[in-house]
Amino acid sequence: MPMKTDAADLTPEVQAHYDELRAQLAEHAHRYYVLDEPSIADAQYDVLYQSLEKLEAQFPQLMTMDSPTQRVGGAVLDTFRSVEHGQAMLSIRTETDTTPQGAVSFDERMRKELSLDDSHPAIEYVAELKFDGLAMNLTYFKGVLVRAATRGDGLFGEEVTQNIRTIRQIPLKLKTQGTLTVPKWLEIRGEVYMGRADFEALNERQRLKIAQGLKNEKTFVNPRNAAAGAVRQLDSKIAAQRPLSFFAYGVGVVLNPEVDSNPLLFSSPHQPVVEETLGDDWSVPKASSSNQSLMSLGIKDHFSLLQALKAWGLPVADQATVVQGAEGLVQFHQAMGEARAHLPFDIDGVVYKVNRLDWQMRLGFVTREPRWAVAHKYPAQEQMTTVLDIDVQVGRTGKLTPVAKLKPVFVGGVTVTNATLHNELEATRKDVRVGDTVIVRRAGDVIPEVVGVVLEDRQAQSVPFKMPLYCPVCGSLAVKEALEADHRCSGGFLCSAQRKQAIWHFASKRAMDIEDLGEKLIDQLVDTKSIQSVADLYRLDLNSLVSLERMAQKSASNVLASIEASKKTTLSRFLYALGIRHVGESTAKDLAMHFGELDRIRSASEEELLLVNDVGPVVAKSVREFFAQSYHSDLIEQLQVLGVHWPKIQAQADTQLPLLGQTYVITGTLARFARDDAKAALERLGAKVSGSVSKKTTALIAGLEAGSKLDKAIALEVKVLDEDAFVALLQAHAA
Ligand code: IVH
Repeated sequence: MPMKTDAADLTPEVQAHYDELRAQLAEHAHRYYVLDEPSIADAQYDVLYQSLEKLEAQFPQLMTMDSPTQRVGGAVLDTFRSVEHGQAMLSIRTETDTTPQGAVSFDERMRKELSLDDSHPAIEYVAELKFDGLAMNLTYFKGVLVRAATRGDGLFGEEVTQNIRTIRQIPLKLKTQGTLTVPKWLEIRGEVYMGRADFEALNERQRLKIAQGLKNEKTFVNPRNAAAGAVRQLDSKIAAQRPLSFFAYGVGVVLNPEVDSNPLLFSSPHQPVVEETLGDDWSVPKASSSNQSLMSLGIKDHFSLLQALKAWGLPVADQATVVQGAEGLVQFHQAMGEARAHLPFDIDGVVYKVNRLDWQMRLGFVTREPRWAVAHKYPAQEQMTTVLDIDVQVGRTGKLTPVAKLKPVFVGGVTVTNATLHNELEATRKDVRVGDTVIVRRAGDVIPEVVGVVLEDRQAQSVPFKMPLYCPVCGSLAVKEALEADHRCSGGFLCSAQRKQAIWHFASKRAMDIEDLGEKLIDQLVDTKSIQSVADLYRLDLNSLVSLERMAQKSASNVLASIEASKKTTLSRFLYALGIRHVGESTAKDLAMHFGELDRIRSASEEELLLVNDVGPVVAKSVREFFAQSYHSDLIEQLQVLGVHWPKIQAQADTQLPLLGQTYVITGTLARFARDDAKAALERLGAKVSGSVSKKTTALIAGLEAGSKLDKAIALEVKVLDEDAFVALLQAHAA
């Protein structure tokens, strides 16, 4: 079949289509990464993105450095170039008094410096978070990101543009919105950081690589180190795989010579303006007062500047608040101190800034610090303590985890007595030994971790930790599969630790929710052999319960009542309660929704399981293996016989996909899609795509130069969709 691809002309239509695609992709990326409000499904975004790639492959002259395709990294450098900041990157005075007094003294100092007497109302401040990452200077020329540099010595930094371009939250091109202009030269100041969940996931991946024997890989001590390492990666492909984020909090140079003559300074995205006018060796023009320029843009205070940054498309943390006087600062410091543990990223304090830009100018600078801002710290999230012992704990799936027992230490807002060492490799790599002085870190809700050993303090007679050869609870052999990092107890349900954990998981709130069945009671029940499996829970009676130590009649009947109540459950809870490896709560929900009934899940093949949302090969294999064991089948049958039940639900596999049961044929050349992408998009919605038109065809999708299939469709009176109608069809079923 003839496909018209190469030697095509770059017509105004193609150009317009390209511009439109770029604008759409930029908008969707902003919604997704900055606003966290996506309006299309990932798959649709992919379709648009692939179309853009195709167009750029066909017409390379279209591509400019602010194209969304230019984020993936690729360049490998020998060293980083030193570049001069347009305006010096200042540091900030730090108030080390972590009590509220720190805020009070800052306010007192400001009132004095501004010569405000007691009758003057409270000073207005912006209170912000102090992000624990690394400072970054982003230079935008005519709205396009042309350089990113680290702080360095404040005057010169290292150019890390290629790495910074991979951060999806950072716009390659600023948005123009309303009457707000984008200055011709604009330096954005902000913090590159790594979110806690991203950090944990990265370290998990790193641990796996190490376990698989990859040399030169390591885990990272904390999110800030991980972020700093990624920013200073000479290979930008590696940087692209590190999940970095960004918050903007200020500006450097703001220069606006053309502001009146040309309000939309970068209205034509496809023109390679940047390369043409900047050349290789350029520096940001020095600007005397950025506050003066901001004020001529109508931005009169710092909070309005933050709003402007947002309007230009930059991520700004939404905790930033306007507050009044010392009282407002103290309140903010306290509120964020409490919120700190639950934030998705690390902060090491808060920052207070005088809101009015003209007052900032009046206050000026002392050496390299502005007088109008201060950082107010929180107590550290890392502390030193001593390792009293190293225990090995047995998890629900038999995983053996070495845990350092610590001399109690107050860190990150709680007293920590245990810290996980993850697995043998981690424990050996960190070489934590009994008696060592260690640095413990606890940030947010993350489990406490030993990040390092103070080797100078190590006792001469200390010995390296060794993983036991046998399960410390049941004595079964401890095994480690190739390519896995963890040792497991091979005892299965013979191991009382595994049994206890499995029962505890089964009864937990998000599983069967057996409220009165606590951990202590489960220990007692298993230790006295009153129960062997979760099914035995439903065979307990009053007599067996009251015969336990410290068990009164009243609490025994409460326990029985909550066991009874748990019989009425849902399929997803039940699935989750079974404790299938890799099946967490959300996967259990997805499985339940997709299949609707347990028997279909039990008999599903790996291929069928792979069709479920978010189920990959590892999960599919684990589900298959679980149900293949007769022990599990027996257990499930017993539970059902004992009265565990759930309401029937409608399987998504049968109903939810909007185009299920429909058949499409694609013909001719589509401008916006490769044939395979169009096919995949339809299939994701449940449709079949066939090669030939018949009476059963739902519709023919006809691109340019459609031939005999179009004739046949017309003859058979099959519906015909042109490309626009096809796009509309996809959009109508967007998630
Ligand atoms: S303002 C002229 N605001 O703290 C004032 N700095 O400055 C310049 N930092 O490494 C800094 N969060 O990167 C400011 N909301 C925030 C900040 C912040 C973190 C960092 C900054 C620098 C250090 C001291």
